[in-house]
Amino acid sequence: MSLKDSLEYEPMSAEGWEDPYPTYRALREQAPLHRAPESGIYVLSRYADVEFALRHANEFSSNGMEKMLFGSRDLADMGFREYRALFRFFIRARQIPFLHERPRTLVTLDPPRHDEMRQVVNRGFTPRRIAALEARMREIVAGCMSRLESGEPFDVVRDLSIPLPVTVIAEMLGVEAERMNDFKRWSDALISASSGADRERGLPAVLEPMGEMRSYMRRVVRERRKQPKDDLISVLVDSAHAETLNEDELFSFITLLLVAGNETTTNLISNATMALLSHPEELAKVKGDLSLVPSMIEETLRYDSPVQMLFRQTTQEIELPCGKLPADADVAILLGAANRDPEVFEDPDRFDVTRNPRGHLAFGFGVHFCLGASLARLEAKVAMEALVPELPDVEATPTPDFIDSYMLRGLRSLELPA
Ligand code: HEM
Repeated sequence: MSLKDSLEYEPMSAEGWEDPYPTYRALREQAPLHRAPESGIYVLSRYADVEFALRHANEFSSNGMEKMLFGSRDLADMGFREYRALFRFFIRARQIPFLHERPRTLVTLDPPRHDEMRQVVNRGFTPRRIAALEARMREIVAGCMSRLESGEPFDVVRDLSIPLPVTVIAEMLGVEAERMNDFKRWSDALISASSGADRERGLPAVLEPMGEMRSYMRRVVRERRKQPKDDLISVLVDSAHAETLNEDELFSFITLLLVAGNETTTNLISNATMALLSHPEELAKVKGDLSLVPSMIEETLRYDSPVQMLFRQTTQEIELPCGKLPADADVAILLGAANRDPEVFEDPDRFDVTRNPRGHLAFGFGVHFCLGASLARLEAKVAMEALVPELPDVEATPTPDFIDSYMLRGLRSLELPA
């Protein structure tokens, strides 16, 4: 990657998806406060700047996430197709989206509202609630692995890393097992609509899956209000607490869990498998000592981060270690680049399962630090403890087939060599 190329870097582009790391290096070394030529987005790639931006939530507003992921929703700019999509959504969901301010959720909110809402949802993610899921996770994983044991072709993505988090989140929410495939479909559609190929389709691509999901979730929420169970939705609508979420907020939060919780964990498991298959000596270490699995998972989070970038918008002019940003600037924060910064991680392009990379930023940092981090870590641990002993010893790097997203990094499929 030459200086010229790195100066042309556009964060919301699919170019260089397969291997963004040389570009990240060039940005860190030659253009740490890069301004993308077409979009005008500022790009931060050094660890010190990325951490600084995430630490200063008041100066770096998460409105940037709303703006970059969903774009402007000005009714005056809409055409016939978008009005038709709005109308269909209205029929399904019995709600008119975007006519009033769209309900915000954690990841697009700033303090103080963010912190109030976070307190409510934290109730559903206590260490005790997460730890209690481990036995069920082992059962789910054992079910997934039976295919491999019976000698059938095994695709790590299709047969393990997709079904595990989808099943766990659906069961946490108290959703029927029969709707699991719908969950995956909604989650895929929302990701593609916000950061992948369907972005071009605009509003209709977001509203179709959301309308279906909303109509289904309305029923579940109504049932839990009448008759609470021991599930996450019941915890969130529990009227015994003064602070609860209203229906719009609840729906937005469930949508966020589906997108933020499913795809990311799927990608972590797939990326870990891919990294082990292409580093046989590291695989041998983990096979020889399964207690290395947690450290290997942290190393995967650092080495090939499932969330490659976040967005923010500056609320005022601000001085960063790499230079000054004006007020109202759109900023792309490259977690994937910060996690390979040699200032913080020695020999950062080396995948080292014994590294234990403290301080990696794969789950973000500060007030928005990932709500599901312990859940994701536990799911990945349970999955990899079962999968690692089954991985082939020879270097068997399949050609990676990446998912359709510039923001998330993961694989569409990863078939194990027979
Ligand atoms: C390997 C898996 C995961 C990765 C890499 C990941 C990554 C992240 C990152 C980078 C953020 C920060 C966003 C920001 O600062 O704007 C975040 C926030 C969040 N994550 Fe995760 N996540 C993962 C799994 C999960 C799971 C399993 C759940 C829930 C089931 C979840 C729910 C959330 C929520 C609700 C937020 C917003 C928190 C807030 O704004 O206060 N994530 N995640």
